[in-house]
Amino acid sequence: MLTIRYATLSDTQAIHEIHRSDITQWKASYTDETGQRHKREATWEECSLLDRWEHGGAWMSPELCAIHLNRILQQGHIPLVAELDGMVIGEMELYLEEDGEYGFHANLSVFYLHVDYRGQGIGSLMMQDAYELLQQIGCEALTTYNPAVPAFYERHGLSLHDETVRLTLSTQRMQTPWHSRTASVTQVEFTGEPSLKTKPIQSGRILSPVQLLQLLKDEEEPGFYALDFHLRPTEMSFRLSHGLTKAFCVLRDRTGDYENPLVHLWADDLSEDLVGGVINRAARMNIPQLTFMVKPEQVALFAGFNVISQGPGTLIYQKDLL
Ligand SMILES: CC(C)(COP(=O)(O)OP(=O)(O)OC[C@H]1O[C@@H](n2cnc3c(N)ncnc32)[C@H](O)[C@@H]1OP(=O)(O)O)[C@@H](O)C(=O)NCCC(=O)NCCS
Repeated sequence: MLTIRYATLSDTQAIHEIHRSDITQWKASYTDETGQRHKREATWEECSLLDRWEHGGAWMSPELCAIHLNRILQQGHIPLVAELDGMVIGEMELYLEEDGEYGFHANLSVFYLHVDYRGQGIGSLMMQDAYELLQQIGCEALTTYNPAVPAFYERHGLSLHDETVRLTLSTQRMQTPWHSRTASVTQVEFTGEPSLKTKPIQSGRILSPVQLLQLLKDEEEPGFYALDFHLRPTEMSFRLSHGLTKAFCVLRDRTGDYENPLVHLWADDLSEDLVGGVINRAARMNIPQLTFMVKPEQVALFAGFNVISQGPGTLIYQKDLL
């Protein structure tokens, strides 16, 4: 018998095994005599928490998976599991949020079946149950970003609703140094001003806004983000202000080397001044390149900067639930 229900912390091990079922080869890291980090084939048991995390995030270790699940349960999001004859074989994570663009909606961010149970209609049943549940709690829409299986989602009524453009810029070779044009942009270390983080995301919407905020280090809410994101410093944050315009910026680089971090920017509007402020700041931090992900109509704001490449960013799929 198949049951679809809310996940609890007791499902941690099974959820971990679902996600782990996709990985056929594990790699552990080691450091050579010159201090360089390398990878070698290894068993899961031989891998450190960081090694495991690098194969696919918190779900790769039961310890980190428990912290992650605990957090989303405490925050009132919806992790669902599919249980077949008493065995948990599928997991879906729905993040609830409210914004001006989509209203009160859910973002389907994580959806995995154990590899042995795919293609048997279980995922479709989970989608149907999710729709019913979301409608019951008054959700106006379901969104998902960059779907790995667009045909599956399209069959379940989602369609391409919006997209962003990915722009990679050099911070080093600006034709006109931006600081000579915007002396009034002041930059202050982030001090944890929550109101800034509730502004719309102007760049780097790769996850739902609520999930992006969860990734951030936040002095005001110790324990707010999971242990997995302590494993490696993957983000730097600072606040920018230009006259009355205030913005909150996070440069995020999962590799930790900051050669080309992704810019997440919370602000009421995106302007050339804000872009210039971020670039200035990154140049001072010796970051050679930055990647912005913005709406197509905002690309023109980058005309005066040294754009190295441009390509597709996030694809946002949506279904109305009203
Ligand atoms: C996506 C997923 C949750 C769907 O659940 P499922 O039970 O396998 O799906 P169903 O059996 O209900 O539907 C199968 C249909 O989905 C599509 N589909 C499912 N997985 C697919 C995949 N990996 N690649 C392409 N199409 C896929 C197929 O078109 C299939 O259609 P068909 O029956 O006409 O062949 C599951 O396959 C899975 O866990 N995949 C790997 C993880 C993943 O890609 N997750 C989604 C993004 S996070």
